[in-house]
Amino acid sequence: MLERPLILTGFMGAGKSSIGRLLAGKLKCPFIDLDAEIVAVAGRSINAIFAEEGEAVFRVLESSCLEHALHRGGAVIATGGGAVIADANRALMRASGVVVNLTAPFDRIMERLSGATDRPLYAGDDPATRAKTLLEQREQFYNDADIRIDTDGKSVEDVAAEILGYLRGLEA
Ligand code: S3P
Repeated sequence: MLERPLILTGFMGAGKSSIGRLLAGKLKCPFIDLDAEIVAVAGRSINAIFAEEGEAVFRVLESSCLEHALHRGGAVIATGGGAVIADANRALMRASGVVVNLTAPFDRIMERLSGATDRPLYAGDDPATRAKTLLEQREQFYNDADIRIDTDGKSVEDVAAEILGYLRGLEA
């Protein structure tokens, strides 16, 4: 049983959704994918929101969906890679639950994102350079977490087990 939200943060391709879904199954609690919530509320894809309304509108929707998700209590929440940018989002996440930041080396992130077409910030002429800059800019925000877990060389199962071990330690 999960009493407070378990919030997964991390860059695109860090494994938040796949690890989150598995964890929620193990913890027998709801899984909330924030990007999917945003798509449902907006009634259009992430690409369409960015293209038609811009990133600023996406961020407003993201903050409001995050707040809503955090109010649902004991759920596993996979955030989008940029949900950590806003100070208010980070403050709310830290105050509401346990924040687990998933990391991976840049090369691994590039492998996982290769061929992605549903990520407006990983697009254009030189997505790798853009991703590197974003990752560097966001490092300070990803560091604002209860624990950081390196996913490199680990299976989704391995990482989920590591997070469960950490949660057990908190209860002890
Ligand atoms: C974003 C990451 C995406 C999605 C949107 C913006 C970002 O989520 O929220 O494209 O700013 O890093 P994932 O991290 O699930 O890809």
